[in-house]
This record gives sequence, structure tokens and C-alpha cells, in this order.
Amino acid sequence: MPQEYRMILKHVDQAGYTPDLECYVRHGGYQTLRKAVALKPVTTAEGKTESGPEQIRKEVMLSGLRGRGGAGFSCGLKWSFVDRKSGKPIYLICNADESEPGTFKDRQIIYKDPHQLIEGMIISSYANDVHLAFIYIRGEFAEGAKILNRALAEARAAGYLGQNILGSGYDLEIYVHRGAGAYICGEETGLIESLEGKRPYPRIKPPYFPAVLGLYQCPTIVNNVETLCAVKHIVEMGGAAYARLGTPNNTGTRIVSLSGHVRRPGYYEIEVGKVTLGELIFHENFGQGLRPGRTLKAVIPGGSSAKVFKAGEKITLRRKRPDGSTSVQEMDLLDLPYDFDTIAAAGSMSGSGAIIVMDDTADMVAALANLAEFYAHESCGQCTPCREGALWMSKILHRMDTGRGRAGDPAQLLHLAQNIQGRTVCAFGEACSWPVLSFVSKFREDFEARGGGPAPKNS
Ligand SMILES: Cc1cc2nc3c(=O)[nH]c(=O)nc-3n(C[C@H](O)[C@H](O)[C@H](O)COP(=O)(O)O)c2cc1C
Repeated sequence: MPQEYRMILKHVDQAGYTPDLECYVRHGGYQTLRKAVALKPVTTAEGKTESGPEQIRKEVMLSGLRGRGGAGFSCGLKWSFVDRKSGKPIYLICNADESEPGTFKDRQIIYKDPHQLIEGMIISSYANDVHLAFIYIRGEFAEGAKILNRALAEARAAGYLGQNILGSGYDLEIYVHRGAGAYICGEETGLIESLEGKRPYPRIKPPYFPAVLGLYQCPTIVNNVETLCAVKHIVEMGGAAYARLGTPNNTGTRIVSLSGHVRRPGYYEIEVGKVTLGELIFHENFGQGLRPGRTLKAVIPGGSSAKVFKAGEKITLRRKRPDGSTSVQEMDLLDLPYDFDTIAAAGSMSGSGAIIVMDDTADMVAALANLAEFYAHESCGQCTPCREGALWMSKILHRMDTGRGRAGDPAQLLHLAQNIQGRTVCAFGEACSWPVLSFVSKFREDFEARGGGPAPKNS
């Protein structure tokens, strides 16, 4: 029977569980940090001496943990890219911007179990020789920032943070930095610019890979809230045990934000790949299906930037084999295991883990007009295709939504989206064009019906 596997959310929503230090410690909190800073150097089979921090980095690599912020990049690999020979300080930034529409998981940890995040950050900092770390929190989470600052003060007073942590000789300070409420500040290089006090224009990669040239041009690790919490559990149970959770290459647990037309929307922690999209929407342990009499129309599988799936569409999974060839497999949408690789092979992405469900009452033109307005508002304006294109798409969609569609509008939308993706400094270009490309091509009839009509010749 498909069910939740609560590891990071173990105590969240438990009766009597409060976000203060005393409660966290009573439930075993900061024991993993104690274990981490006490690790003694070991000699490997190859005769190499491995320090405690190196052992932690090895466990994180072994765990197969992939970033939970959106891109699903290997955490261990990201840490291995950190330039440790530059002689510059190394920084850690926790990305607590959580602004992808449909996503509401990180805030559960911040508001209800902040010390878990702080412990994860201290262990990650220790593992990477970081002495100064930041939590970049979305501006709207004013209360979240207060809760974190209170928790940091408690941790400092108890010797888990600050100078000589738990008598280990290791020093670390963590600061909370509030954003001003801009989606682009979730993009890691835009975030870094913002943290430096500048307008959050994302940086070009290369050369500005944060692990090499990040905050103040120093090596910097940017990880999502949930990713950093997972590190604590990896150190607690060991990388190999963590890797046994979930499925190969999609290890551990992840928190799914389920919203839209389901009877029981909410956040659910699952073993990655052990629950299907259909089970998340329909099973009694998760979404509990649609409202009476309704049928499924569409599913956005990974936050509003992800390409939408149409109910009933035959999904063709395309996967690269190790020899470079491609395997092709047909599957029903609802049978797709919810993991990074399957959703990507199906032509979309699991992104931030936010599933938005739409039933037959959903107006696809209105829904896309809503999303397009968000992206037009949030484009930072640095790259012309995104700045102009996102606004243009939003204007067309608003016109269509208010009964003023013109012949050729659907084709024009596709043309605009195709000319934004791949032509911008950061992935916002894809974020704003993928919904348009997928909505318009998969629900063409809905868009044609709004006075769109077929494209005129030479339009
Ligand atoms: C437009 C845009 C918005 C993003 N917003 C967020 C966000 O709100 N939170 C987040 O953790 N990552 C966000 N990301 C992904 C970050 O750039 C980065 O990949 C992530 O913080 C790395 O952490 P992880 O490896 O632990 O996932 C966003 C990316 C883009 C392109």
C-alpha cells in the first residue's frame, strides 16, 4: 500500500511538538552534530588519511542525495566542485526562497522544525570548512525569519553554534537574510547578487559557478532547505542506508506539495520513486482523488515551470542508456513513478516536487494567463527575450482570456516561447516558456476556441 515515509517531517505536525530548542533536543536533536564533530581521522584501504569532514562528504556522495530545490543535481558532486585550494573563505547559503508556484514544503520545516535545518546547516558547514553561512529567506516569510533567528540564538546560547562548537574547536556563524519577495532571488546566482546587496541579475555560468566563484567571488555552496535537512539524516544513518531508501539514482525521501483539485491537498514525504503520480492524486493516503463527479484534465508535475501533462495522454519515456543509445517505453500518465528521472524521461520535470492537479472545470487559457502574468511580473529584465517575451505572452493570454483572442494567437504564443527558451542567462527563460509551450500544444483546442483560430499565412 503506498504510504508516506516521514523522515524529515517526522515531528512536524506531531501533537505537542514545538519549534524550540528544548523540544528539539528532547527528540534527539543535535546528537548527529555531536557525532559529526567528534569523528576521528581514519585511514582508508588505500592508506590515505581521511578527516572527519572528508568522511561526511564521502557519505553524502554515497547517499546519492540530489538537490531538492529544483534541478535535482547531485549534492555530493556539487560539494566536490568546491574550490578548496583557492585560499579564500568558503560560504554556505541555504536557499529558503521557496517561490516556485505550487511549492509549500520548505516553510513547514522553517516554521515547525527550524533546528533540524540549523543542525543540517552546521553539519554541512563543518563538512565543507565553512565558517560563515547564510539563510536566504523569502521576504514574505517574515514570521519564518523571526522563528529562525530565535532558533539560531538558542543554538548559539547552547554551544551548538558560534565559537568552539561543542568543544570541537570549530567555529561557525549563521545569519538570516530576508529577500524582498522576488522569484528570481531563488535562482542561485541571482540570490548571491541579492545577498551582496545588488539587483538580483543572475550571473553567467561559466565562469560564475558558485562552487568556484560565488558570494564575494569566493567558493560557495547553495543548497535548498530540504537538501540540507537530508544531510543530517545521511550523517545519522550513513550514506549507504540512505541510498537504500527510494529507488536507484533517485534515493532517499522527498517532500511533495500537492495542490489544486484534489480532495486532500497537502505536503507528503515519500520515498522517491516508490509512489506513482496516480497514487499521489487518488490514493486515500494522499490526495484522495477529485471532487465528486469530476474527471482529471491535467497535471503539472514539478512546480508551475514544469511542462503540463494532459490526462489520458500516452507517455513516452525516453532514457539514455550507458552506451549512448535511447530506450523508449510507453506508459500511462498515472502509472509514472514520482522520481526525478522518470518525470524527466516523460518530457517534464519533478522540479521542486510541487504537483498541481486540474480537473475538467479548469480553464486552461485562464490558468496559463495567470501563470504568464506571474512570470512577466517576476522576470528580472536582464535578458531581452525574457523581459519582452514574458510580458508579450502575458498580454496575449490576457486578451484571449477576456474574449479578445485573435486568429494566430496560439501560434504566436508558441513562436514567442520557442524564442525565449535557451536564449537567457538563467533558467527563468525555460521556466516562463515551458508552461506556454506545453499548455498550448497539448490543449490546442481550448486555445483555438478562444477566438484564436489557426495561424494566418505569413504571420
Ligand atoms: C527561476 C528560478 C527560481 C528558483 N527558485 C528556487 C527556490 O525558490 N528555492 C530553491 O531551493 N531553489 C530554487 N531554484 C534552484 C536554485 O537555482 C538552485 O539550483 C538550488 O537552490 C540548489 O539547491 P539544491 O541543489 O539543494 O537543490 C530556482 C531556480 C530558478 C532558475
